[in-house]
Amino acid sequence: MNDDTKRHELACGGSLISPNKILTAAHCVTEFKKTTRLPASRFKVKLGMHFLNKTTNDAQLSRNVKKIKIHEEYDAVNVYNDIAILTLSSPVEYTDTISPVCLVPKCFEDDDNQQVIAMGWGNTKSGGKDSDYLRHAFLSTVPFSKCQKKWGDDIDEDQMLCAFKKGQDTCQNDSGGPLVMEFPDDSSCRFMQIGVVSFGDGCGTSTAPGVYARVKNYLPWIEENTN
Ligand code: ARG
Repeated sequence: MNDDTKRHELACGGSLISPNKILTAAHCVTEFKKTTRLPASRFKVKLGMHFLNKTTNDAQLSRNVKKIKIHEEYDAVNVYNDIAILTLSSPVEYTDTISPVCLVPKCFEDDDNQQVIAMGWGNTKSGGKDSDYLRHAFLSTVPFSKCQKKWGDDIDEDQMLCAFKKGQDTCQNDSGGPLVMEFPDDSSCRFMQIGVVSFGDGCGTSTAPGVYARVKNYLPWIEENTN
């Protein structure tokens, strides 16, 4: 997703969840540390993209954003309910390279220490530059009590989950992108999204895990706002 006021400027990640809806983070589409929504006209969604730099990209499709829905209880100070849904100007047709992610079912029992994958074109180190290709980080889910030891009691288990791997992390401009579990043998749900990149401490150098919005507990809200 890019912010069209600066040409080809990467703003955030997102995931396709229906022909015309993108799941992303609320802080991607609001003013810095506020809940004020940015105009939809500022954003362009790039789909089927691998390579990206300031002047060019290999996106197969691009769409304007027609509507931005931010979670009603998004709290920019505590970063609670950091989730939003964009409506594309027109639906996309699914292809081999553009298809929706599957969302974690309500009944899914998430366990600690499971391998998960975060992805994005964000900074390759804290204060560094964006990546010019889509990168992946293999992380593990962290027991919430352990995550709270690092972040304090302000982080909330219902809305957030934590993932960590020494030296691996998401970073600035990865926000809004998906945290997934991979099921290589499941052709109908190879990537199951469990989180949305929300915040962290530095990138890959801290002992504090990265924090992700816990998709499972937003399913009713996502459904309500997806067609
Ligand atoms: N808030 C960041 C963004 O807007 C994402 C930070 C994720 N950081 C981390 N260390 N896990 O892109």
